[in-house]
Amino acid sequence: MELIQKSKELKSLLKQKKEENKTIGFVPTMGALHSGHVSLIERARKECDIVVCSIFVNPTQFNEKNDLDNYPRTLEADSILIESLVDFLFVPHSVEEIYGANMILKEFDFGGIENELEGKFRPGHFQGMANVVSILLNLVQSDKAYFGLKDYQQFKIVEKLTKLINLDTKIVGCPIVRESNGLARSSRNERLSQQAREAAAVIHFSLSYIHLFHSYFTIDEIQKKATQMIQGILEVEYLEIRDAETLGKITDWNNENGVFVSFAGTIEGVRLIDNICF
Ligand code: PAJ
Repeated sequence: MELIQKSKELKSLLKQKKEENKTIGFVPTMGALHSGHVSLIERARKECDIVVCSIFVNPTQFNEKNDLDNYPRTLEADSILIESLVDFLFVPHSVEEIYGANMILKEFDFGGIENELEGKFRPGHFQGMANVVSILLNLVQSDKAYFGLKDYQQFKIVEKLTKLINLDTKIVGCPIVRESNGLARSSRNERLSQQAREAAAVIHFSLSYIHLFHSYFTIDEIQKKATQMIQGILEVEYLEIRDAETLGKITDWNNENGVFVSFAGTIEGVRLIDNICF
């Protein structure tokens, strides 16, 4: 694994590989890597000749400065975790390396899905995310780029983004990696007490309950029931049952685009998200 800090250098190394007809897989991350990230990298390793991973804590997607300042930066441990799987690890040495000296952000129109769910609770987050992802995808010009379905709304927005910016990169969605009790893996889980980590298993439990038993209930009924299961253990921000493509509200379980159940809530001051699609 080669560590690269400059965009120009990465570009010229990848140009060589493309001239040798190698396929390229790309996994963008913000570091603090865990088995969820590793699953994306392993998938890229299986499907592509060359694997590029990036670690960049993108300031424009944080809506709270405190969150940005406290984001874990664990480059040494990250490098050790992925060194046998990755060819090029891109860690831009500064924010300017990505955005240039005068950071001018684009405003993308994703047709409204950027304003639903997470978009409502984290204003500006998806525009910031889309800005950095568009810069990174343009730089790497990979055959495939891998994103986790844990951030399902992010994945759908990135799919739209590649169309908007006319990129050929195929966006691959990878299954959510979970802890043994069902809690979705996240670097934020490390901030929870053991007790809270156990208790937070109720999120996946209640989402699975919806999946298994939805046909016995109306959408409103089961949404209330599942929310009640979680309330008291976590502070529920939202638990919403939506169209899996448009993320808009649905009226019928037989929804053409599939059903997407999205959750966000906090426990011990830590915000957790999870979802299930069927
Ligand atoms: P980050 O939170 O580091 O996540 C990087 C990738 O890992 C994302 O695609 C995310 O969905 C995936 N991931 C995280 N936890 C996962 C899990 N438990 N199972 C499966 N995949 C998981 O998402 C970002 O960074 C940033 O927004 C980024 C796309 C890098 C842009 O800055």
